[in-house]
Amino acid sequence: MIIKSAIFKGSSTTVTRCPKTDLPEYAFIGRSNVGKSSLINMITNRNRLAKTSAAPGKTRLINHLLINDEWYIVDLPGYGYIKAKPGQRKKFQIIITDYIIRRGNLACLFLLLDSRLEPQKIDLAFITWLGESGVPFALIFTKTDKISASKFNNNQKAYESVLSETWEELPPVFKTSAPRKLGREDILDFIEEINSSLKTK
Ligand code: GTP
Ligand code: MG
Repeated sequence: MIIKSAIFKGSSTTVTRCPKTDLPEYAFIGRSNVGKSSLINMITNRNRLAKTSAAPGKTRLINHLLINDEWYIVDLPGYGYIKAKPGQRKKFQIIITDYIIRRGNLACLFLLLDSRLEPQKIDLAFITWLGESGVPFALIFTKTDKISASKFNNNQKAYESVLSETWEELPPVFKTSAPRKLGREDILDFIEEINSSLKTK
């Protein structure tokens, strides 16, 4: 797929304030600092479309980007670490879960995992919640430029073995590196496939 246009359509504080649309939507979620915004910039080929930062907690709202006038990318705040008081952290969690459960045009949720880490409790808990809630999702390993191929392989296998304890079928998995532009085509092909299947429905 060629990205002809990528337009920032606004930031929303809650799911009810998100743009009214029937276009398919793809949201990026994961722990704070895992690389959601960087990946979105890499996929769209725009350097500063999504705000990135070395400090966790950069993205604080539900950000809508309209792609090719046909579908949306959504940049979400990270879970797990939010540099905020516990009460505020709870508020962010509610914004995220509300969005995921109630957004009718959410075609697929991309859950980002840091490729350098072994399976993390918070990510596994999130995956379990997605399963229980019937949310279609795919996994994306980020920052693969920061780890050796063999170590990454071990981490990926560890994830697969934990997941296969509870899942009959594993979700689609993508490997990415923002600086190396790795994984871009695979993710765009995947999105294009879903978009076409939705059109023929
Ligand atoms: P929040 O919005 O705070 O939840 O973070 P985020 O998940 O959007 O992460 P962001 O894209 O802001 O990236 C966090 C940091 O990781 C930045 O310093 C990025 O430059 C760096 N980073 C992101 N992706 C990659 C990658 O693939 N490789 C490397 N080497 N660094 C990356
Ligand atoms: Mg971000």
